[in-house]
Amino acid sequence: MRGSLAMKIVVPSFLLSLLVCYSASYPLCTDLRAPFNAGNAGLAFCRYNGSVCCDSAQDLRLQKQFKAMNVSDPGCAPLLKSILCARCDPFSAELYRVEQAPRAIPVLCNSSVSANSTWFQLYMLDFCSNFWDKCRNTSILNSPFAFKSKAKTTAGSGSKISDSWSSAAEFCNEFGQASDNISVCFSGGPVKLRSAENSSTPSGICLEKLGNGSYLNMVAHPDGSNRVFLSNQPGKIWLATIPAQGSGEILGIDESSPFLDLTDQVHFESELGMMGLAFHPNYQNNGRFFVSFNCDRAKWSDCSGRCSCNSDVGCDPSRIGLDNGAYPCQHHSVISEFTTNQSSLGGDINPNEVRRIFTMGLPFTAHHGGQILFGPKDGYLYFMMGDGGSIGDPYNFSQNKKSLLGKIMRLDVDNLPNSTTISESKLWGNYSVPKDNPFSIDKELEPEIWALGFRNPWRCSFDLERPSYFLCADVGQDLYEEVDMVTKGGNYGWRIYEGLYLYHPPQSPGGNTSASSIKPIFPVMGYNHSQPQNPQGSASITGGYFYRSTADPCLYGSYLYADLYGGGRIWVGMENPENSGNFTSAQVPYSCAKDTPIQCDAENESLPALGAIFSFGQDNSKDTFLLTSSGLYRIVSPSRCNYACSKETMTPRSPPASAPSPSPSTSMATPWRHRGLEFLLLSLILSYMLLFGFCCEL
Ligand SMILES: *[C@@H]1O[C@H](CO)[C@@H](O)[C@H](O)[C@H]1NC(C)=O
Ligand SMILES: *[C@@H]1O[C@H](CO)[C@@H](O)[C@H](O)[C@H]1NC(C)=O
Ligand SMILES: *[C@@H]1O[C@H](CO)[C@@H](O)[C@H](O)[C@H]1NC(C)=O
Ligand SMILES: *[C@@H]1O[C@H](CO)[C@@H](O)[C@H](O)[C@H]1NC(C)=O
Ligand SMILES: *[C@@H]1O[C@H](CO)[C@@H](O)[C@H](O)[C@H]1NC(C)=O
Ligand SMILES: *[C@@H]1O[C@H](CO)[C@@H](O)[C@H](O)[C@H]1NC(C)=O
Ligand SMILES: *[C@@H]1O[C@H](CO)[C@@H](O)[C@H](O)[C@H]1NC(C)=O
Ligand SMILES: *[C@@H]1O[C@H](CO)[C@@H](O)[C@H](O)[C@H]1NC(C)=O
Ligand SMILES: *[C@@H]1O[C@H](CO)[C@@H](O)[C@H](O)[C@H]1NC(C)=O
Ligand SMILES: *[C@@H]1O[C@H](CO)[C@@H](O)[C@H](O)[C@H]1NC(C)=O
Ligand SMILES: *[C@@H]1O[C@H](CO)[C@@H](O)[C@H](O)[C@H]1NC(C)=O
Ligand SMILES: *[C@@H]1O[C@H](CO)[C@@H](O)[C@H](O)[C@H]1NC(C)=O
Repeated sequence: MRGSLAMKIVVPSFLLSLLVCYSASYPLCTDLRAPFNAGNAGLAFCRYNGSVCCDSAQDLRLQKQFKAMNVSDPGCAPLLKSILCARCDPFSAELYRVEQAPRAIPVLCNSSVSANSTWFQLYMLDFCSNFWDKCRNTSILNSPFAFKSKAKTTAGSGSKISDSWSSAAEFCNEFGQASDNISVCFSGGPVKLRSAENSSTPSGICLEKLGNGSYLNMVAHPDGSNRVFLSNQPGKIWLATIPAQGSGEILGIDESSPFLDLTDQVHFESELGMMGLAFHPNYQNNGRFFVSFNCDRAKWSDCSGRCSCNSDVGCDPSRIGLDNGAYPCQHHSVISEFTTNQSSLGGDINPNEVRRIFTMGLPFTAHHGGQILFGPKDGYLYFMMGDGGSIGDPYNFSQNKKSLLGKIMRLDVDNLPNSTTISESKLWGNYSVPKDNPFSIDKELEPEIWALGFRNPWRCSFDLERPSYFLCADVGQDLYEEVDMVTKGGNYGWRIYEGLYLYHPPQSPGGNTSASSIKPIFPVMGYNHSQPQNPQGSASITGGYFYRSTADPCLYGSYLYADLYGGGRIWVGMENPENSGNFTSAQVPYSCAKDTPIQCDAENESLPALGAIFSFGQDNSKDTFLLTSSGLYRIVSPSRCNYACSKETMTPRSPPASAPSPSPSTSMATPWRHRGLEFLLLSLILSYMLLFGFCCEL
């Protein structure tokens, strides 16, 4: 993993190795939760306003702590106060380096670093030595520096910094920012980031078509090779080979021999089916992989488990689920574990379920996400779950901290409980709960919950280069499709809010949560339903990835997302300043590369007819793919579509040797088959549009 900071700064290459393990996680508070708004007045004591990490109670505690230091010296006092107040900075997790070795004092800026770093500090560039100069002789009661003090302090007498450190160099060596550790540091006031000078919207996205199949999930093979696992909604998984860019070759897949076929267990209809696929981070050694799918307990006896609609979440199961002819909890969402001991194609796969990780009976047949992902840093399994369906989350599941609907869960599948533990702790299956899940901060939360307030998280991803960037698209109801930056314990607002708008459900038998009782985290990107580009009048977001391939350098570092429906709209979200969490997004045009290995069906001359954009994928070359009803597409160099990108180094590409003829008439040997395929695709798209309708169903 390359440190994102390395991109901006001219650093000698031998220093790059020092930067690589450093991952930015901004803006975030020291408890790893997201900053929140301080309100109009800002903080009374610390004077931070806008986005902060302290509420008024913490502000008051800091005021008391400062008072208890009994420092009145006008040179030192404001500097000392500013250091205490760094807790309130929206970048406090970073200032205190909480993900490394947590510290009592934020990292203080030293002159030698900041001027040339990405982090542009107003205030004092040489804060650390300035603080030393002004405060070294000051007697501080209950000094936050006293933990290191070599001098004996007796109750009532303060300690001086100069008792413990003999020089600015010695002091700043401990508390300052080392000159080759370039990241955010404290310089006396709110952290300010420098905006990128030239950030312009990419002129277009160039696609090549690699396959005709329609898939819901793409997962890179954990062995780092050019192979990926692809799964479709009816329940098959294939191991496929991704050809090198520019080779002119197509996806290597044998649809007739799937890696695993679960179509007998999986219940497939509109929003139900095989929804997720994840390989254990140590798959190469343990062969463990996990599949998330829906089943129908009327059809499969192993489809059984707890019902998510129960009296303990204030919901009467007899009253719901009836609107689509199903009975309550007829359909379940399950995560099931499988194993293989030879990871190569056609290897030794045990088609029998090894264990049931999780089961949950669903109230309705819609909005249950189903994606599963291993956290790149923590190795835990993240499970995305929607509000369960119907209009406006009538049972208020998403805000109910005792319900697992409308949540993102985080499960430990490495420390498996025994049967006694499962029944005693009321777990929903075979997993344990990571000790630092947010229930450790908010006791009201069910222990599985990582974040709440989602309607239907439809495709989440971790940034390959900044694993603390966990972005999820959440499908909207009437007005707004959103992308959220998901943090520990974060409440993303549904159904109090739909995007930034207050939402009023047509019916709410489950009671209401008041807007004032929650601290919603608003989306970082999104789009309105009523945009003129949307003739369908409906919308449903499909979340993508941070683009990290070098194929399109103008797209590098931006986040891609799309609308599910035909006429495919694709957005590029650009973060500026870098690591600020401040995104602006723009819809960008796309077209099909002239030398695409498989001809794109054309909507018109240049616009490929993508069909429904179900999902995005990423392979081990960091390339980004679109998984659509019409096939599999890869994002390639913009020059292959004649899009301008000044950052692209134009090396003339020799035409691929095995490129098929670009003329559709010659590549179409059997026209009747073509038409059959067209009909198939069309009906697929139609059925998806009718049934997969996230926002307008029911
Ligand atoms: C914070 O306060 C400063 C002045 O004290 C003001 O200029 C700025 O607009 C405020 N920012 C927000 C987000 O309220
Ligand atoms: C606080 O400092 C003042 C001098 O600035 C001193 O007179 C007073 O005794 C100190 N209070 C305590 C509790 O040490
Ligand atoms: C850092 O910035 C200063 C001006 O602020 C400049 O003089 C100096 O050459 C820069 N150093 C490097 C290594 O870029
Ligand atoms: C601190 O004490 C040293 C030596 O006793 C002195 O040189 C220096 O000026 C003092 N600094 C302040 C800010 O009082
Ligand atoms: C911080 O700056 C001081 C002088 O300004 C210098 O002596 C010291 O080595 C620097 N420390 C670090 C860790 O860069
Ligand atoms: C950079 O920071 C890390 C983490 O704080 C530390 O372990 C490492 O020693 C620092 N590198 C240098 C050269 O100071
Ligand atoms: C920014 O853009 C200007 C003009 O558009 C150009 O001259 C300059 O080289 C660009 N800077 C970078 C760092 O790309
Ligand atoms: C994909 O479909 C097109 C027709 O749309 C056909 O020409 C082509 O041979 C197919 N390719 C594969 C690999 O199935
Ligand atoms: C691994 O392969 C061996 C030999 O084919 C087989 O006997 C064994 O059951 C397999 N183990 C698993 C966990 O699939
Ligand atoms: C199950 O695990 C718990 C906690 O680790 C332990 O106390 C208990 O003895 C175990 N029970 C069995 C039957 O192994
Ligand atoms: C809805 O929210 C309110 C307030 O948070 C809560 O009291 C109630 O139990 C919730 N109801 C359901 C069914 O989630
Ligand atoms: C967020 O980005 C926009 C567009 O780049 C910019 O105008 C705005 O100032 C940024 N906001 C912050 C807080 O940096």
